[in-house]
Amino acid sequence: MAQRLRLLAIETSCDETAAALVTQSFKVESSIVASQARAHSAFGGVVPELAARMHLERIAQVCAMAMEPVAGDWTALDGVAVTRGPGLIGCLAVGASYAQLLAAGWGLPVVGVNHMTGHVLAASIEDPELEPPFVSLVVSGGHTDLIHYRTHTTVELLGATRDDAVGEAFDKVARMLGLPYPGGPEIDRLAELGDPNRFKLPRPVLPDFAFSFSGLKTAVLYLIRDLGELDQETRADLAAAFRLAAVETLCIQLEAAVEHTGCRRVVIAGGVASNRLLRETARRRLQGLAEVTIPEPRYCTDNAAMIGAAGLVRVSTHGFDAAPVDIDPGLRQYA
Ligand code: KG4
Ligand code: ZN
Repeated sequence: MAQRLRLLAIETSCDETAAALVTQSFKVESSIVASQARAHSAFGGVVPELAARMHLERIAQVCAMAMEPVAGDWTALDGVAVTRGPGLIGCLAVGASYAQLLAAGWGLPVVGVNHMTGHVLAASIEDPELEPPFVSLVVSGGHTDLIHYRTHTTVELLGATRDDAVGEAFDKVARMLGLPYPGGPEIDRLAELGDPNRFKLPRPVLPDFAFSFSGLKTAVLYLIRDLGELDQETRADLAAAFRLAAVETLCIQLEAAVEHTGCRRVVIAGGVASNRLLRETARRRLQGLAEVTIPEPRYCTDNAAMIGAAGLVRVSTHGFDAAPVDIDPGLRQYA
């Protein structure tokens, strides 16, 4: 890792406008996240046009706030890291354009970063000594991936969801229970009050480390339809049963991947990794099998510190980008 690098990192792939200062050894000097969740909740999900417009309105101020630890001095920076994908095209374009404008104005190099690699490498903020190889379960609103992160340049996708991402399933079940968007944290809170064993739900385990959450979501839908009017206790029991089934499904596949790869290290990342039950269950089940690193919740959900962490790694393996940042809404491979 190059010495004394300090990056300004920018994240605008979905509905959080975020900027952070991250230095070598993965020290986070600032991390500002302006969430648009309230604006989108009226629509029950992210509205891409609105999201891009709100990024445009907020990005300058969010970056200025992130620069406070260096008193706004751009000469204290060595480069700018920005998310290049996957994400919403208009949103990515705002972040990439702004990053390149800043960089051109201040004579700084830019590095484009994969958002999903950012989620994974948020684990380096938690454990700066973290080194591959490890297995990672990456669980967000758009992805449910099991990866074998062999080196920083060789990452194998072991399995992924065939339908809904697990975060998406949390959001949809939350909506069925009349909870606001984003539903993951709402289900997590409500589930704490419920009995997870009153209702039996499936744990869909597919071959090849694949996932499928649409059947689980439909099973909840049928239960709700059959139950009729839901009282508060029943809603909590449904939330608890769904959370337990989703978490156990994730852990079963994660354990299989650990066994398959022989890896003794595991990283759990992405917005759903802030789920309390997932954090506890994975740690308990993998005890003695693997060392588990999970970023603190604020670095699991979308943020720019994780983009700074992945930017530092990218610069160490590939250097800064030679060409303008090539945004890619469907970016798939992690390395
Ligand atoms: O990684 P993230 O912030 O954004 C994407 O890249 O998609 O993940 C957002 C997802 C949403 O589906 C949200 O409901 C879910 O993460 N989420 C949770 C929790 N906190 C956020 N799901 C379950 N339990 C939580 N505590
Ligand atoms: Zn994300």
